[in-house]
Amino acid sequence: MRGFIRLMSMLAALVAATVTAISAALAADVAQVNLTEWTPPDIKSVGDDAFGKLVKYGYALMTDTASQIGPQVDDPQMRYSGNNLTCQNCHLKAGTQPYSMPLTGVWGQFPQYRGREGEVGTLEDRINGCLERSMNGRALPLGSREMKAFLAFTKWVSTGIPDGAKLTGAGAMSVKEPGRAADLAHGGEVYAQVCATCHGQDGQGQRAESGRGYRFPPLWGPDTYNNGAGMARLLSAAAFIKHNMPFGTTYASAVLSDEDAYDVAAFINSAERPQRANLDKDFPNRLQKPVDTAYGPYADDFPPAQHKLGPFDPIRAKVRELAAQAAGR
Ligand code: HEC
Ligand code: HEC
Repeated sequence: MRGFIRLMSMLAALVAATVTAISAALAADVAQVNLTEWTPPDIKSVGDDAFGKLVKYGYALMTDTASQIGPQVDDPQMRYSGNNLTCQNCHLKAGTQPYSMPLTGVWGQFPQYRGREGEVGTLEDRINGCLERSMNGRALPLGSREMKAFLAFTKWVSTGIPDGAKLTGAGAMSVKEPGRAADLAHGGEVYAQVCATCHGQDGQGQRAESGRGYRFPPLWGPDTYNNGAGMARLLSAAAFIKHNMPFGTTYASAVLSDEDAYDVAAFINSAERPQRANLDKDFPNRLQKPVDTAYGPYADDFPPAQHKLGPFDPIRAKVRELAAQAAGR
């Protein structure tokens, strides 16, 4: 019996070692694409065949969302977006700017597991997630021409990038956390000095001269992203702001310090904005909830204010401890 157990444990070790070796080999084979050195395709090169037409419609939806599916378009059926933002207000340069949540290469990254829903999500789910949260609207039907156009656009803008490639420049580039709660008073000063010239002292932005969107989009108030959006999280907003704002800034030419970005992000997100219903249903496994999610319930018992404003490291340590306990049960 002892010999059998020893044999079995040797076998188990062998299997584990083989699995490690195989995954290392697979990892080495994964294509790497650096989006900061990548030239995305030009919309002017798109033809007028069926696919080309859809790509162009997707481009219009991305860059002029409010005029296409915004809350003020003539046909009430077409009012999918609940605010007058455009996707491009955050996914800069029609979703091609590195570190501003580019869609370049995103085609090959789905389906993927998502903690917010606690299940495997599709690219369609993700697009609808931004429609319901960032655009404070409603989901597009899966077979709709609009959804197909977003998909066609994402496929086209990902041309040449292998499925599953490891992308540099995807998402947003995080800021170094100052290890303290955000300072709202200082955030307000940064806002007044750096942001208000475009977004307005009242945060309501400035409407575009043509079309239904904005020249400078609103950052709070009734016509912007709701409290369930990615941008409503302090660390996501700080990451985007530091590497993309003031407009014209890139990850390579950031002007704000990490601390300024952290404080101004908290300042913006502490102002009033549309509220999404049933957010308590997000993150069914609360241990997977990002520490800066601004709404409960939480796995830990840190006060809600600390989840909104930080410091986040003590929360991370506690969540790690709770996760280890849950795994050991
Ligand atoms: C207010 C800012 C904002 C607006 C407007 C916005 N998004 Fe997003 N989007 C984000 C952020 C932030 C993320 C990434 C992280 C998150 O949500 O936590 C994201 C992620 C995504 C992703 C996944 C990208 C990836 O790397 O996996 C897709 C696809 C997407 N958005 C599509 C859209 C579409 C289509 C629209 C317009 C209908 C839109 N978004 C409007 C902020 C925005
Ligand atoms: C020179 C004008 C300008 C300045 C200054 C500026 N922004 Fe922006 N901002 C823009 C424009 C334009 C967009 C939309 C980009 C697009 O559609 O291509 C934008 C988009 C945004 C967005 C995403 C869209 C939304 O409505 O939430 C956020 C967040 C944001 N800016 C925050 C800031 C913050 C914080 C500052 C100050 C640190 C700042 N901006 C300074 C022009 C500016």
